[in-house]
Amino acid sequence: MEQWTWNKSMSVGNAFLDADHRKLLGMIEEVESAMRAQDAATFSRTLKTFENAVRIHFRNEELIALTIGHPFEQHKEEHQYVLNELQQMEAELIDMHGRWSESASTHYFIFLSSWASEHIREDDMLMKLELQSRPYDFKPDNLASP
Ligand SMILES: [Fe+2]
Ligand SMILES: [Fe+2]
Repeated sequence: MEQWTWNKSMSVGNAFLDADHRKLLGMIEEVESAMRAQDAATFSRTLKTFENAVRIHFRNEELIALTIGHPFEQHKEEHQYVLNELQQMEAELIDMHGRWSESASTHYFIFLSSWASEHIREDDMLMKLELQSRPYDFKPDNLASP
C-alpha cells in the first residue's frame, strides 16, 4: 500500500513547502472522513478549506520556484489539472447532498491522496537539489500560510 501520510521521504528540502504538504495531506483525510460519514455540510466546508489551501500552496510553490530559477511551466499545468478536477469533484459531490456511495468516497479519496503524494514525490521533488543548496527555512517574501 502506498504511503499517503507525510513522512521524511517526502521532504522537498524546504521547511515551508514541507509544512504545506503535511497540512494538505492531513486535510485530504478530513475530507475523506466527512465523505464516509455522508456529512454533506462538513464535506463541503472541508473541501472548500482544502481547495483554498491548495491554491495558496500552489502560489507559494510557484513563488519559490521562480525565486530559485526552477522552470515551472509544466509543473504549473499539473497544478491547473488538479484544480480543475477538484472543481468538478466538488460540483458532482455537492449535487448529491451527501447521498454518495462508499465506492464514490473511495474513488475520490484515492484520486486526491494518490495525486497529492505522487505529485510531491515526482514533480515537487524536482526542486529538491536546488532547494537543498539554500537554508532549510529559506522563505521568499510574500509567502502565505494555507
Ligand atoms: Fe507542485
Ligand atoms: Fe507541492
